[in-house]
Amino acid sequence: MKKLTISLFILIFLAATGAMAQKENLVSVNQLVIVTNHQGPVISKDIYGHFSEHLGTCIYGGLWVGLDSKIPNTYGIRNDVLFALREIKVPNLRWPGGCFADTYHWKDGIGPKGKRASIVNTNWGGVTEDNSFGTHEFMKLTELLGCDAYINGNVGSGSVKEMADWIEYLTSNSVSPMTILRKENGREEPWKVKYFAIGNENWGCGGNMTDEFYANTMKQYSTFLGNYAGNQLYRVACGPSDYNFGWTETLMKDQGTRAMFQGLSIHYYSIVDGWGFKGSATKFDEREWFETMRLNLQMDFIIKGHSAIMDRYDPQKTKGLVVDEWGNWFNVESGTNPGFLYQQNSMRDAITAAIHLNIFNQHADRVKVANLAQMVNVLQSVILTKEDKMVLTPTYHVFRMFRVHQEAKLLNLDLRCEDYTFGNKKIPAISASASVDKDGKVHVSLANLNPNKSITVTCPVIGDTFKKVTGEVLTASEMSSFNSFESPETVKPSVFNGFTLKDGILTINMPSKSVVVLELTK
Ligand code: AHR
Repeated sequence: MKKLTISLFILIFLAATGAMAQKENLVSVNQLVIVTNHQGPVISKDIYGHFSEHLGTCIYGGLWVGLDSKIPNTYGIRNDVLFALREIKVPNLRWPGGCFADTYHWKDGIGPKGKRASIVNTNWGGVTEDNSFGTHEFMKLTELLGCDAYINGNVGSGSVKEMADWIEYLTSNSVSPMTILRKENGREEPWKVKYFAIGNENWGCGGNMTDEFYANTMKQYSTFLGNYAGNQLYRVACGPSDYNFGWTETLMKDQGTRAMFQGLSIHYYSIVDGWGFKGSATKFDEREWFETMRLNLQMDFIIKGHSAIMDRYDPQKTKGLVVDEWGNWFNVESGTNPGFLYQQNSMRDAITAAIHLNIFNQHADRVKVANLAQMVNVLQSVILTKEDKMVLTPTYHVFRMFRVHQEAKLLNLDLRCEDYTFGNKKIPAISASASVDKDGKVHVSLANLNPNKSITVTCPVIGDTFKKVTGEVLTASEMSSFNSFESPETVKPSVFNGFTLKDGILTINMPSKSVVVLELTK
């Protein structure tokens, strides 16, 4: 009823402002109505999460250089990367995979460094993994970042006992073989682990299981994952990728299965032209730009599809959707190991990040966690490193600009906008979301997907009166502009003045291919 009243109010308002605008010849096809006095669900900070796999140079070289490195570090974690990551307020970090997780035996990665077993990373380049970065190093990294740990367990090639032992080692404070072992390895107190995933992509690299088989296996594993010393695990069951709605149905339909997890993971990558030829991260034309945007927007359809199934079995929304791998996947940079998935990051990726984060915000009632793939040097990274050099990508800047939405309340929006057309296909040209934080400040984040045209958005703000507006914009001269080690500031945010606020109507002039975040203060 409340929703209906508000919708009616918006309709009347739209009609009224439309008529007014027509009179004054100000008709705008791009209208974003923001209702500030009807607050929606809290946007979980964890949808701004990240993912670090033992893949290429994400961990080794990217995050971890070791205590003896000449690169300045804290407990082996490189300082430049650490300090930059703190700026974007990383809420949680997923580790150790990905596909690597289902080949990972955690006991290989504890104890004195010289004695740790070396293994072959069979998924990613066949390189030797010396396990110098293991449980203790990861937990130290989360501590230094001030974020929660999201650990992904091994179902594919592990055992129930191995996983149960890991949880005990990490979180128990009882006297037990695992806690004694942890103490012998230098850690007296148990850690807190917020998220724990029961396998990764078990329909593929995690064991090629059917949905029924996985559901039964997951129940068995979950039964033995203890909640020790006040630590309450949020168990994430392996969900489907993309449009595999049948998998979600299987995991949700049975009450007994449902009871064994709190979150259901989904993975979705935007891959232009399919797995065979994914296109270059920096040398692309408008067709590839458009196609990337179109694929990015599919995330909304995918979330709606899986949410609709979850809603049938869990109308109270007690289970979260955990989008723990998302982003653009392009061809690797030439001359790099194809198994390392190292790709550059351009203005196109910045728009991708804005589209996804706006979509996750809009689905705050169901999406509780999301993790960009991946944090450093792999796929759509926020940071790239080369020896002692580091560069912040356009995606990094979007995460920094959007951090204001973390734990804020989602606001009702009504967006009507023009299309961005390419050939015979069209998509909405504008992506947006808005929230109100605990201090009453409203943040509006928008992206203009059109690389050729600036767009003026008329924005009636209903509910409260705001006196001050400030903003930041991220844009670039070319669709493919990117930050390199030689030119690290080609794409960077700047102060945004392209707006006016008059009589409660905000008018925003969005440059072509841009991301804008505005702050409204009363
Ligand atoms: O992020 C790279 C890989 O993509 C992950 O290891 C896997 O889960 C997914 O297929």
